[in-house]
Amino acid sequence: MSNVFEGTRFCIHTFGCQMNKHDSERVAGMLEGLGSLPVETIEEADIVVFMTCCVREAADTRLYGQVASMKNIPLRDGTPLDKRYIAVGGCIGQRDGDKLLAALPHLDVVFGTHNLGSLPGLLRRAIEQHGRAAEVIEGGAEFSSALPTVREHDWAAWLPITVGCNNFCSYCIVPYVRGREKSRPLDDIAAEARSYVEAGVKEITLLGQNVNSYGRDLYGEPRFADVLRAVDAAGIERLRFATSHPKDLTDEVIGLFATLPSLMPALHLPVQSGSNRILSAMNRRYTREHYLGLIEKLRRARPDIALSTDIIVGFPGETEENFMDTYRLVEEVGYSQVFTFIYSKREGTPAAEMDDDTPREVIQERFDRLVDLVQRKAFEANQAELGATVPVLVEGTSKRDDSILAGKSPKNQTVHAPVPAGADATSLVGRIVPVTIEEARTWYLSGTIVHA
Ligand code: SAH
Ligand code: SF4
Ligand code: F3S
Repeated sequence: MSNVFEGTRFCIHTFGCQMNKHDSERVAGMLEGLGSLPVETIEEADIVVFMTCCVREAADTRLYGQVASMKNIPLRDGTPLDKRYIAVGGCIGQRDGDKLLAALPHLDVVFGTHNLGSLPGLLRRAIEQHGRAAEVIEGGAEFSSALPTVREHDWAAWLPITVGCNNFCSYCIVPYVRGREKSRPLDDIAAEARSYVEAGVKEITLLGQNVNSYGRDLYGEPRFADVLRAVDAAGIERLRFATSHPKDLTDEVIGLFATLPSLMPALHLPVQSGSNRILSAMNRRYTREHYLGLIEKLRRARPDIALSTDIIVGFPGETEENFMDTYRLVEEVGYSQVFTFIYSKREGTPAAEMDDDTPREVIQERFDRLVDLVQRKAFEANQAELGATVPVLVEGTSKRDDSILAGKSPKNQTVHAPVPAGADATSLVGRIVPVTIEEARTWYLSGTIVHA
């Protein structure tokens, strides 16, 4: 049988969180395995895959426009196919299934978050039969980690330890599109970590919607601390994880920030709101006091830890006073980074049924005030780095200037440094180099590589 993928080129557009990024690496792995070549742009591609996100409305509506506008892009010269094939996967694929085919006449294939492995078969069918196909299943599928992969970088790897979420925060669509939480056996995780170390990977980021509850389904109790110890023992240089739910962050895990050499001094701990009334309406199941207690313990375990968080402004019924509780919490914690979101109503979630009468302008004004504070705090945190020499994992060159290297500090700050005279930028990518910080901006640091 002829291979319909031979001579084709594909591109993948990825939206949303690391879960999608990880899944996109698997999609790339499968398509490359079939003989299709990766390209950067839709214009150069015969097959276009959108890995979608629906956590907020903005991303959701954008997809429809993007797919619709593709009919105007001419086919590439020399394409072996009769038309450009378009597939939608990820969380919108999972949520909308074949409804997407009805809404988007140019779309050929829809697949979901639980059946990534079906994509090649669906595409083949569409190409051979000039037809359209949607397949989405409900939960229960294997970890996409078992599929072939092409990692975006040789020196960094995402390693999913759980998929799905059981928390049902009242505003959030993720549990509906990613299914119930499922953990991977500890031995599989340790083996994958060892294979990455052997392949020269410097940094592993463990992934899950709530890594702290890892193992509850498999072992009857959370065993995230064991995962951290096992991956550290595999010999990785830098270990990170995301995301952590404050209700499940244990003292044992906090303690590891003081003792595990590879665990980087950075933690993303989404608080969402600083108001106990709103936290309860969000079904977050912790209080402001509990959260601040965790921050205190973390700073005791690792005084230099850099903290980041997510905040939703304008949750239904949020008052000025509730908002100010959030504002003051941000001021008190002094985050190095805060991802701020305006509440976005998601059909099918409990919050979508709640009374929501705060005017849009009021919410926007609160949001702007919070963003100002966040920037001021991030600037202060970066200023404290002036004069320090930090080990930077080089990721590439700056987007604007290829004579400037860009990388990450242990605290996950972006660090820029000029390529040293006589050195080749590409040979430094993936290496850890010491940089003395000479300038601190709100979102990055810059300095000079120290010669050994
Ligand atoms: N599992 C992770 C994050 C998942 S989504 C966690 O629990 O932290 C990433 C972020 O998007 C959330 O932390 C939240 O701040 C934001 N978010 C989720 N649903 C949202 C909604 N309906 N409106 C606005 N922001 C939302
Ligand atoms: Fe969404 Fe809450 Fe689960 Fe995070 S923990 S994915 S915010 S339901
Ligand atoms: Fe978006 Fe799905 Fe991640 S909705 S945030 S891509 S789990």
